[in-house]
Order: sequence, then C-alpha cells, then structure tokens
Amino acid sequence: MTGSISGLSRPSQTSDPRGRYYTSPLVSQSLIERIDVSQPKLVLELGSGAGSLCSAAAKRWQDAKLVTVDVDCDAPRPMHASHATPRLKHAHFVHDVLDEALSDRIGLKLGTVDVAVCNPPYIRPKWRSEFGKILEDAGLSGALTSLFDAGADLLFLAQNLRLLRNNGKLGLILPDGLVTAERFSRVRQTLLRQHFVQQVVQLPRGVFKGTEAQTYLAVLTKRGGETGEVSLKQMGADGRLSATIQVGQDAAVKRLDFAFHASRPVSSLRSCDSPAPMSFRQAVTDVVRGSICSSAIPSFPMPVFHLGDFPKPMGERGVRIVPKRFTLGARTAQRMAHDVRLAIPGDILIARVGRSLANQVALVVHGPCVISDCIFALRTTDNYRERLYRFLESDMGRLALGSAAHGVAARFISKSNLFDIHF
Ligand SMILES: C[S@@+](CC[C@H](N)C(=O)[O-])C[C@H]1O[C@@H](n2cnc3c(N)ncnc32)[C@H](O)[C@@H]1O
Repeated sequence: MTGSISGLSRPSQTSDPRGRYYTSPLVSQSLIERIDVSQPKLVLELGSGAGSLCSAAAKRWQDAKLVTVDVDCDAPRPMHASHATPRLKHAHFVHDVLDEALSDRIGLKLGTVDVAVCNPPYIRPKWRSEFGKILEDAGLSGALTSLFDAGADLLFLAQNLRLLRNNGKLGLILPDGLVTAERFSRVRQTLLRQHFVQQVVQLPRGVFKGTEAQTYLAVLTKRGGETGEVSLKQMGADGRLSATIQVGQDAAVKRLDFAFHASRPVSSLRSCDSPAPMSFRQAVTDVVRGSICSSAIPSFPMPVFHLGDFPKPMGERGVRIVPKRFTLGARTAQRMAHDVRLAIPGDILIARVGRSLANQVALVVHGPCVISDCIFALRTTDNYRERLYRFLESDMGRLALGSAAHGVAARFISKSNLFDIHF
C-alpha cells in the first residue's frame, strides 16, 4: 500500500491536488441506474473517495463483492461512512490506482471484474514509464499523439479496462476534454471501435461542489462489439433527463456531448421559406485571429479591439458596430498590415475565448482595425454577411457557439469547431 502522492502531480485546472471532487447521491444513483446488469459478482471502484458511487452500487447489487481503492488515507472509509452496519463483502485498499501491478496489490486478476464504476481525478500526474504499459494493455497507447497527453482521467479509464472482464460494464464520470476536445478524437475513435459505448449523459455545470467543470456520465461494455450508434442525453439541474438523440460512430468520434449534436443542423426548426442550412465552412472565406495579446494592449500605439469592447446587444434587428475610435486611417492601416493582423470592413468579429463568448458579436463598418488574439474576424461574402450576422445574434447562434466551445476554467472555440457550425 502506498502513502502520499503529494509533490508528484503536474499543475492542473483543478485546485485540489488529488482531484477530490465527490459525486452527489443524485448523480451516483443516475450512473448506477444506467448500467444494465442484474447480478454482478464483483464490483470495483477505483478512486472511491467518500464512497458516494460505491454506496449507490452496494444498494443496488446487495450480493456483489465490492472492492474499492483510493490513495487518500484520510478519505472516510467508503461503506463505513455511509452504512450503519459495515458490509461483509467489501474490501477497501489504500493504494495508488496508477500502479501497473494494482491487480496483484488488491488481489484481483486482470480481466475478472463484472462492473466498474469510477469518477476519476481530473489531474495530471507526473509521467511514469508504467503509465505507458497501462495504456498499452488497454489498447489506448496508439490513440494519443504523445503518451504524455494522458491525464489521470484516461489512465484510470485504462486501468478499469484492464481489470474488467470481456462484456463487463464500465460506468464513468468523464471530463469535457475526453468527450469534446479534438486532441482526444482518436481516443474516442479507439474506444468506439473496440467497445460498445452505450450512452453519454451531459451533466449540468456546477454538479460538483467547488468546480464549474462540464462533466458527463458514460457507460460502455468492454469488447461488447463495435459501437454503431451512441445515445446522448442531457441532465437538467433538477436531475431530469432530456429526450435521447442517437449519433453514429463518425459523429461520436467528433464529439460526444448532447448540446453540440442537438444544435446541428437546425433544419427542423426552420420555416418552409428559410434558406437551406449551410455550414460556416461554406459561408466563411477566412477566419482571422488577432495577433496582439492582452498584456501588450496598453503599450500598443493604436487602440486594439478586445473582449471588453463589444457593444451591448441592440435588439433583434439592430447591428452592433465596432466603435469608430478603433478605426485606422488608410495609411496607418497599410503600414500596420505588415506587422499585425487587421480586421477589415465587412468582417464579423466574435470572441474566441471567455465565459460569455457566445454573446459577443460586432460588425466592422468604419474602416480597418487592430484586434487582439482573443478575437476572431469572420470574413465572408456580401451574399452571406447579413444571414451570418443575424444567426450569430440569434438564440440559435448563441447555442451553437456555446456548444462548439470547450474548456473548463476558460471557454474557447477553435477554427475547426467554428467551421462545423450549421446555420
Ligand atoms: C473525483 S474524486 C471521486 C471520488 C468518488 N469516487 C466520488 O465519485 O465521489 C477522485 C478520487 O480519486 C482519488 N485519487 C486521486 N489520485 C489517485 C491515485 N493515484 N490513486 C488512487 N486514488 C486516487 C482521490 O483521493 C479522490 O478520492
């Protein structure tokens, strides 16, 4: 059994060094309900913390043997904390889940667990060579551009896959990155090809105390056949679930979040005389990202259009116009164009980062202007400008931008996310 892991983790977006964000009873119960197994013999929880998930599991599968593991020796003993009578068929281990030899340490053979439930820590442990072996065994090593990209979430997932038997079920709570980020699309592809990923439920933000992170429930069957379609749902703040949408494997490789797929394409919400839906890729001829970082703005010789400079919304038919004070004279613009990226008249500016990026839009009218690196200028043709602008000002546009964005502490949107939006 190991002691402390303090000092061994790389900086992370979470403030707790061990990623100790405990699952609420509502979310735990919802995850356990989604796992369609009636009488598992062996149930495992890696990173059991205060025991919310394994308590819900123990309540449902009363005859199963339960094994829990956590490195934190101060965490309340899972079953003892939540039940008056300690459970006889429960073994808890204080140990590092990322030990390659975990199965020996906890007395379980690889490939023997019927059901595993897990809410992994979203931290980045310092790389150890044994992590490569854990990923390799789980069939995931080829899915990463660099093995160093693997955070504890992916490593816990891999360790669960090693311990599960074929056709065993894994119920997970996943962070936004694995579900939506482009750099994990090959991880999603590998999982979808090797296992049957049944469903992914987008949880409300703020469901974990102390963090606004976007998280998801996911259930998969190990080696249960290649995934044809995945069911996506969204949970409201009151715990209610939305209707299901089914997405095929290719769409699921792209992203696995309900909000993204629910908002595209929007043809079903159009009236008969609306133009046919099209993608930003078709309508936007160029996306220009500004080149002045926020720290350089105060000393820059010209005004730089930045996140705080978007005018307030002007109502449904109004147009938000970049204020005149940002406009460069023709000569200055010509000179500046060599050194910095400029927005030009006709460009539609949107925010690239920030919590309220979906509400920020403005049209460049008066003349060229300098934009910061937090701003995208969407260049389009006269045919599409009005339609594109109206869409970005609409509720549908805000929804599309909001769901195309990702990131926990800071929300951001990439060019390729933008190009995939339909309007
Ligand atoms: C996000 S919390 C989840 C706790 C619990 N499963 C729940 O859902 O409420 C992650 C847990 O993983 C534990 N943990 C972090 N790194 C670990 C490691 N290397 N080995 C074992 N447990 C670890 C933390 O102590 C914490 O209890």
